[in-house]
Amino acid sequence: MVVVPRPVGLPCEGSPPAPPQERTVTHAPIDVTRTTSWADLMAHCRVLEPNLRGWFAEDPGRAERFTYQAADLHVDLSKNLITDETRDLLLRLAEDVHLPDRIEAMFRGDHINVTEDRAVLHTALRRPAGLQPPLVVDGQDVDADVHAVLAKVYDFAAKVRSGEWTGVTGKPVRTVVNIGIGGSDLGPVMAYEALQPYVADGLEVRFVSNIDPTDVAETTQGLDPETTLFIVASKTFGTLETLTNARLAREWLWKGLIAAGAIEDVDDARTAAVSAHFVAVSTALDKVAAFGIDPENAFGFWDWVGGRYSVDSAIGTSLAIAIGPERFAEFLAGFHAVDEHFRTTPLVENVPVLMGLLNVWYVNFLGAESHAVLPYSQHLHRFAAYLQQLTMESNGKSVRWDGTPVTTDTGEIFWGEPGTNGQHAFYQLIHQGTRLIPADFIAVASPAHPLKDGETDVHGLFLANYFAQTKALAFGKSAEEVRAEGTPEAIVPARVFEGNRPTTSILAPALTPSVLGQLIALYEHITFVQGVIWGIDSFDQWGVELGKQLATELAPAVAGEVEALASQDASTKALIERYLELRG
Ligand code: F6P
Repeated sequence: MVVVPRPVGLPCEGSPPAPPQERTVTHAPIDVTRTTSWADLMAHCRVLEPNLRGWFAEDPGRAERFTYQAADLHVDLSKNLITDETRDLLLRLAEDVHLPDRIEAMFRGDHINVTEDRAVLHTALRRPAGLQPPLVVDGQDVDADVHAVLAKVYDFAAKVRSGEWTGVTGKPVRTVVNIGIGGSDLGPVMAYEALQPYVADGLEVRFVSNIDPTDVAETTQGLDPETTLFIVASKTFGTLETLTNARLAREWLWKGLIAAGAIEDVDDARTAAVSAHFVAVSTALDKVAAFGIDPENAFGFWDWVGGRYSVDSAIGTSLAIAIGPERFAEFLAGFHAVDEHFRTTPLVENVPVLMGLLNVWYVNFLGAESHAVLPYSQHLHRFAAYLQQLTMESNGKSVRWDGTPVTTDTGEIFWGEPGTNGQHAFYQLIHQGTRLIPADFIAVASPAHPLKDGETDVHGLFLANYFAQTKALAFGKSAEEVRAEGTPEAIVPARVFEGNRPTTSILAPALTPSVLGQLIALYEHITFVQGVIWGIDSFDQWGVELGKQLATELAPAVAGEVEALASQDASTKALIERYLELRG
């Protein structure tokens, strides 16, 4: 029988005793490793011999039984290393940590972001107008606030698209440059790339994120300042990268306009240029004003929207301009459809719950350290990059929400590239390496460009790869089959595929704005489910602070200040000295 490779020392080889815990909702997280279901999963894990070939051969209903629907997403979990018993035990695990209560708490607006004492309400950003009862949290009519900002974003987007909004010389906007980083960049750029077929003709959006001056310099190259609009997107409006880039962009604008004779080199003209060419998205409208952007031209949001959960807030203004308010509303409706699925579907049919639990199964019981996301859609080429922040900034934690250490591994590494490019790069390791890498394969049935190569439908050929890969990973190729092809004995081992490499297949009708919203919401909720199981706060990100703080502290040393340099550790000091020498 084929057994999936398992690194030595997996938790299932030494599970702790598991006294049952009380099923009361307490503020402290339940230690998942002390639940009876965890112990039962350990026991199950020790005896389970993954055998996808056998399981499919013996059980004609397997594919159907493990296939689910969430809004437009058809999700086939059958090629995962699970049996009905595994699924049932995982569902018990979810019950044991009171997952349904946590889901309700999130949607209700409880302060589940404990370390920042905040509600977590990205789901409120996509609630349709007029839902009853309205969502009131901490005395705030959240629905009214959300729809007031949305109306302002839509109005602005419509004006830019129609040419009613003009630059300082009266010309319409041709290029929008979004300046932001992390959640204020990754979501908008990913969605803009994904929804290219919906972008208005004659409008382009570019994105500046990195503080490497190359980014702003090259992104603005070739642009006409008179027709360029900058959106400074920063939740805090205090992020070094974004504010530095915004100042550089402002300089670029002034210089360009003055050089073209479009404005005079006087303060009033500069102020007018900023008013016409800069808008902001932020929760810190006072800081926006201090930068010189008219607060009238600022779009707000709220501290209960995490950066990595904000593409559907005003942070998506660049996208709303690109695809238009109607399409943006469809995008939000897609999120909401999956929110409703997640909130109302019983756990046993609940796709984000099942996928989150599967990830826990692989990380904590089968020893997986990473998870590949492989879209068979060129338009989703930034999806994995987007998910890296969503998943790893959320669940890369070593303490639980009450400050106690986690009791098991958390936060696997998410990565990926679009198929078929990945096939010619790293799939070798997924197929034949020693590591277990669960992978999500995402495809859409209707292509944006239905091209033909002679008589051959090229998208069909593309999807043949999508179907072939999960089949190859699941069922492999035995030594007997390799020999039967006439392979010389010496290279038979190298050509054997063990199979039992787990995959999830997600198939949607087409990459519409709604489907994109559904996919994002799906992964948001998967991430949340994992966080709940591990007892962590998936909505803070303290782990990014130390590096930021040290960069600020190191800046004088890097600028060559002798005293600042002298106080550094030996390695950092030597590196900076070398840098200063090289720079000359
Ligand atoms: O990297 C940390 C982080 O706070 C992210 O969570 C956030 O998306 C990014 O920085 C940008 O922050 P801001 O939108 O406040 O500029």
